[in-house]
Amino acid sequence: MIISLGAILEIAEARNIAIAAFNVTTLEGVEAVLAAAEELNQPVILQFANAAHSGFISMDVIGSVMVDMAEKSTVPVCVHLDHGANFAEVQQALELGFSSVMYDGSTLSFAENVANTRAVVELAEAYGASVEAEIGSMGREEFASAGADDQDEIESCYTDPDQAAEFVAETGVDALACSFGTVHGIYVKAPKLDIERIGEIREKTGVPIVMHGGSGISDEDFRKCIEQGVRKINFYTYAAKDAGAYIKEKLNQQEGNVYFHDIAVWGRESMKKTYMDTIKVFSDLK
Ligand code: 13P
Repeated sequence: MIISLGAILEIAEARNIAIAAFNVTTLEGVEAVLAAAEELNQPVILQFANAAHSGFISMDVIGSVMVDMAEKSTVPVCVHLDHGANFAEVQQALELGFSSVMYDGSTLSFAENVANTRAVVELAEAYGASVEAEIGSMGREEFASAGADDQDEIESCYTDPDQAAEFVAETGVDALACSFGTVHGIYVKAPKLDIERIGEIREKTGVPIVMHGGSGISDEDFRKCIEQGVRKINFYTYAAKDAGAYIKEKLNQQEGNVYFHDIAVWGRESMKKTYMDTIKVFSDLK
């Protein structure tokens, strides 16, 4: 069944866990996420990052599949737009039946981010959907791949707890994506997380915290972040990378013709395994 981000994060809060939010770019990805969540009987978030992944598949196509399959699922599923870039994209997701949207105004001035996010909250309310927004800045462009080693420079992008509290009070968002040391994609050096900052932001804002850039974080750090109030963890790169490695291995063993349908099935098998392993960590299951 489809439920909103607000509702799924209430489950997370009650159980002191984080809900896995997996980005999907293919039908096999959607199938793998739902199969993993159903086998473990855990809630899950299916998300599409149109800004990053529209070159692989259009939101109209994958979004309809996400909503349809989520509705038929036996576990609670939130269908979410990741890193919504503008109102048109947000509206498109809501029209498709997404139960949650992220509006990412993190590169704008504070005042513009507040004004745009508030407008998105009003729009989403009309559809009964939730809203995630971002304060602070995280992303490979900012520092990781640029190879910045100046820790002060890196930390200057982290979310300021007081500013986050003002942002949440003025916008009424359901969840807040924060910067505390994670980045999207592959880490060029081991991440050093400011875990205490999470607790401070959680306390001052009163809303669940979202971790972006889940790939490459240790199980121990995941658990520490969850203890401090992280309730949604975005995860994509490692599932895609592991599926690619698995397909490569299978192809190396294959003699004769290679059929695309086999590649799709191998991809789904690998992603399902990665998703199950990840959900187990976030839900503290053995
Ligand atoms: P990774 O690709 O680093 O796991 O991050 C995913 C993400 O944060 C999507 O918003």
